[in-house]
Amino acid sequence: MDVKKLLSRMTLDEKIGQLVQFGPSIYKNFEEIRWDTLRNGEIGSFIRVRDPKMGNKLQKCAVEESRLGIPLVFADDIIHGYYTNFPVPAAEACSWEPELAERTAALAAKEARASGIQWTYAPMVDLARDARWGRNSEGAGEDPYLLSCFAKARVKGFQGDDISAPDKVAACAKHFVGYSACIGGRDYNSVEMSEQTLYDMFLPPFFAAIDAGVATVMSAFHDFNGVPCAGNKWLMTDVLRNEMKFDGVLISDAGAVGQLQTHGYTEDEKDTAKKAMDAGTDIEMASFTYTHHLKELVNAGDISIERLDEAVLRVLELKNRLGLFENPYADTDMANSIGATEESLALARECARKSIVLLKNKNNILPINKKSKIAVIGALAGNEDDMNDVWSGKTKNAVTIYAALKADNYKVRYAKGYDLKTDEVFVEEALKAARECEIILFVAGEGINYQGYMSGEARNRSDIKIPKIQQELLTELKKTGKPIIAYIFSGRPLALRNVDEAVDAMLWSGGLGTETGNAVMDILSGDYNPSAKLVWTFPTSSGQSPYFYNHNNTGKPPIREIWYSSKYIDAPIGAQYPFGYGLSYTSFKYDNLRISGAKFTVDDVLEASVDITNTGEVFGEETAELYVRDVVGSRVRPVRELKGFKKTGLYPGETKTVTIDVPVKNLGFHNADMEYVVEPGKFLLYIGPDSESGLKTEFFVK
Ligand code: BGC
Repeated sequence: MDVKKLLSRMTLDEKIGQLVQFGPSIYKNFEEIRWDTLRNGEIGSFIRVRDPKMGNKLQKCAVEESRLGIPLVFADDIIHGYYTNFPVPAAEACSWEPELAERTAALAAKEARASGIQWTYAPMVDLARDARWGRNSEGAGEDPYLLSCFAKARVKGFQGDDISAPDKVAACAKHFVGYSACIGGRDYNSVEMSEQTLYDMFLPPFFAAIDAGVATVMSAFHDFNGVPCAGNKWLMTDVLRNEMKFDGVLISDAGAVGQLQTHGYTEDEKDTAKKAMDAGTDIEMASFTYTHHLKELVNAGDISIERLDEAVLRVLELKNRLGLFENPYADTDMANSIGATEESLALARECARKSIVLLKNKNNILPINKKSKIAVIGALAGNEDDMNDVWSGKTKNAVTIYAALKADNYKVRYAKGYDLKTDEVFVEEALKAARECEIILFVAGEGINYQGYMSGEARNRSDIKIPKIQQELLTELKKTGKPIIAYIFSGRPLALRNVDEAVDAMLWSGGLGTETGNAVMDILSGDYNPSAKLVWTFPTSSGQSPYFYNHNNTGKPPIREIWYSSKYIDAPIGAQYPFGYGLSYTSFKYDNLRISGAKFTVDDVLEASVDITNTGEVFGEETAELYVRDVVGSRVRPVRELKGFKKTGLYPGETKTVTIDVPVKNLGFHNADMEYVVEPGKFLLYIGPDSESGLKTEFFVK
């Protein structure tokens, strides 16, 4: 399709229509849709039409009944699967296997596209540093390098090489930008950020997504240093378009254009439309300032026709790239045939078990002996919805922990223990089950049945411990003297000090999706040896948030005995579990760290190697993490920054050399003049199992 030619035939109303996206917040049911609007070409896209028959009906109206027959594009939030639910993105990232995320994104794309969805609002590439923020689970943690690796992989998985393919969708990197740095961890709140932090920490994952060819970007809700993102010309035009060279569609978040007025940034609807358009927003999602005022603004010369055409052309190009002019309709037979397959379930199980982090394993109590009688205690062990967590796909069913153990003939006694909805604890019933068994599997954490979700959009928490009723129950269970294994689910880092103190072993993950129970069973039984590692720092208490490993040293680093040092008087120094931490049923020894030279130039690629030995008794996989510290900088540098990682499998007694390449040009930062520089001088290099340990050496940059 020659989209430029098409553009030249469009009326002003039709052009504006391409920039309007309808969402379910606008209509309660499809009967409320004004079909005449669609017929007039005044709607360009829809979000969350999950019934392909309905989608085809809408599409037919656009394609066959409107003057120019421009197809609609259907968008949706395919965050961790469409039919098959995979682990939530941050849980999946704990695999430290971006290729795995590429595979799950590809499968989600296949299921979604077959169902008539051509555009996903994923991946979320917001750097998550504050445990209180509700949307931690949608990203890939607190580190810009790791997040960039996952951003790239997810874009590749969703889009492949050609988004017109019947199993690919257009991806969307969101939320541009700094959304997760909301003050107090409170969603939608203001963000105050230095340009250096923006460029060094928050932009790299967006650069990675753009580098991978992401078709669209979504701007965020909040005000960034006082200017709301959906009307922020500096961010969207100067930075994203001109500097980062993003040339795809830029869409606002839902209702965010309309909210410019609520922020107090615009006078009225007309001023809102003008500022959003001027700033660079192409599509307005789920508010109507463009519909109501763009025509008037263009006619008055307040918005140039060039700016309008540029935005419309981008939308037409997206539709063209998606092949919608040739294939606008969903194949309903194919859509109906989408379901769980051997392949999708195998991938969901593989991904889920690689996402489970072993946090504690006193006296190697795990894996458990299949003959042991297990008391499975906790409502979260038996509720399918909780396993799927936020943004689950079309299907809600999942294998629960209890169901999986029972199906595999474990000797289990189940007790609900607590009800997050009513805030009740059922101590007697739980104790009875516990007394009849040899081991307690205590399943707790954040559920979705507690005044709605406990994590996700707008689900911020000021207290990031497990719910009080669960803690109460745990205290009672502890009194039985039976060994306790805790399995904790959450969509954010939690403060798990009290749990850690009460239990013998602890596993943690985010919601794992369709195959949750089977994957947990693989871990409990030892059929799969845990290999996941945390992608956030887990603090010891809520008040430590935001807490991230790549912080500066300060002039008074924390030392307990030193009064005037940077610490809390009522919390331990350091994290409960550091970024990158995760245990295995075996143990690994790191030896012989060496690098390919002592002095490097910016153009060099440094090669660092270490020998890793499996010193335990079972096969295991270990992710070696490489960190760098620039010792002296014209702006002080973080105590450590992740610059590479590699996962490797080792049999008992086996030693392997792991080599990680680090381009020296990646070791820079933005100086006071906002120039990206790799400054000469001494650097420390660490390779180890997490962000607080490892072997250390040094090198120099000339
Ligand atoms: C969220 C976005 C999402 C959009 C559409 C918004 O509330 O912030 O992440 O893509 O809704 O569902």
